[in-house]
Amino acid sequence: MATTDTRSLQDRYRATDSRSAALHQRAVNVLPGGNTRTTVHLDPYPPYALSGRGAVVVDAEGQERLDFLNNYTSLMHGHADPDIIAAVTAQLESGTAFSMPTESEIGLAEIISARIPSVEQVRFTNSGTEAVMMAIHAARAYTDRPMIAKFEGSYHGTYDFAGVSTIVPRDGWDSAEPPVTPYAAGTPQGVLDNVRVLRFNDLEMAERVIERDGAKLAAVLVDPMPWRMGLIPGTRDFLAGLRALCDAHGIVLIFDEVISLRASWSGAQGLVGVTPDLTTMAKIIGGGFPVGAVGGRAEVMAVFDPRGGKAKVPHGGTFSANPVTMVAGKVSMEKLPESEAQRLDALGAYIREGLAEALDGARIPGQVTGAGSLFGVHLNQRELTGYQSWEGSPEEGALRARVAEGVFSRGAVLSPALTGCLSTPMTEDEANTLIDAFSAALKEAADA
Ligand SMILES: Cc1ncc(COP(=O)(O)O)c(C=O)c1O
Repeated sequence: MATTDTRSLQDRYRATDSRSAALHQRAVNVLPGGNTRTTVHLDPYPPYALSGRGAVVVDAEGQERLDFLNNYTSLMHGHADPDIIAAVTAQLESGTAFSMPTESEIGLAEIISARIPSVEQVRFTNSGTEAVMMAIHAARAYTDRPMIAKFEGSYHGTYDFAGVSTIVPRDGWDSAEPPVTPYAAGTPQGVLDNVRVLRFNDLEMAERVIERDGAKLAAVLVDPMPWRMGLIPGTRDFLAGLRALCDAHGIVLIFDEVISLRASWSGAQGLVGVTPDLTTMAKIIGGGFPVGAVGGRAEVMAVFDPRGGKAKVPHGGTFSANPVTMVAGKVSMEKLPESEAQRLDALGAYIREGLAEALDGARIPGQVTGAGSLFGVHLNQRELTGYQSWEGSPEEGALRARVAEGVFSRGAVLSPALTGCLSTPMTEDEANTLIDAFSAALKEAADA
């Protein structure tokens, strides 16, 4: 029997006769599991999106919710921003892709470089995954070394090497060095042999491994405020310690700021005052279109320089730096001058405080992390240092997902891990709606 009548308005997509259910039924015939992005799948099926405007996303049932996920942080101005639409429409009318470079890529690179002092030069890609891959290629070419070091549980997209130990088996939690696990089944042993896995905020472990293997390491890849660990920040001592170790051993330090670029005007690196050699970016720099970029010290970036047929790292990409993405990104970045970024950072502080207050009076204890326009909720009061302290028990993971569902049912979207972000159409009104929805969802979870 259809369950429509017994569902709250916000939960209509779950009904067996919903449009989302029907779309999923169609999808499974032609897409594996009905899915294109593992990261947006929900069991038994996700709600499908119909449209979005500003801070609001509308699902296939016509249900509106405040969007605090913003396509996983990529939409700085929310949905269907009129200035981005105007710029992109003008570009569409004069061509979408050429086998020649366009002025638009210079403009966006200038904006990024002016905003992030460590980024002297930029190279565009079509995704964060590809940006991380190109950063690793650059580090290898620059150092003439094969290996990288990265951190357990940190997500950097789906390039084989960067994906190592994204998945952390519980039986490896106590091991002296984290287990080296493939992200995708079938990953060649040669990949696993060329990655050293460290623990986030554990400088002693980094020292031990880098002292031992430093001569073979091309890069240390670190997300300074990993979304996948609930936005636990890398401490200044830890990140500065990595910087010193990389300097001592001639290793390229890569900050993956695909998400943490939102942490301050010049990213998490600006917040902690530690300068990487290379930075990977994506999401907000594309104004809602497919994008990625690697940027950094000109001396390292020179490996991409093709003049005289001498690129040490050749990198094409039919749609790299396509003018549609470039103009969308440029307008999006220009629409966020430092004053507006500060307003959003202050709203971020407001929402973090509000969520922390909601937790204060609740029967489920918790704490809040994040910076700038990013926030993360943790349903525990442990010291948060890295992946394991974030993940907690399977029961805690289930509780996080239940609270996220409760928030969703009350008209606001967060990630199932209880992380979220703001967009410029938002004000304290939207923040208060989320805080109220979160309080109610928390109470409901505690009652259950
Ligand atoms: C830190 C980080 N790096 C890399 C990626 C991969 O970016 P993309 O999904 O654009 O390939 C992501 C995606 O969420 C990310 O969070």
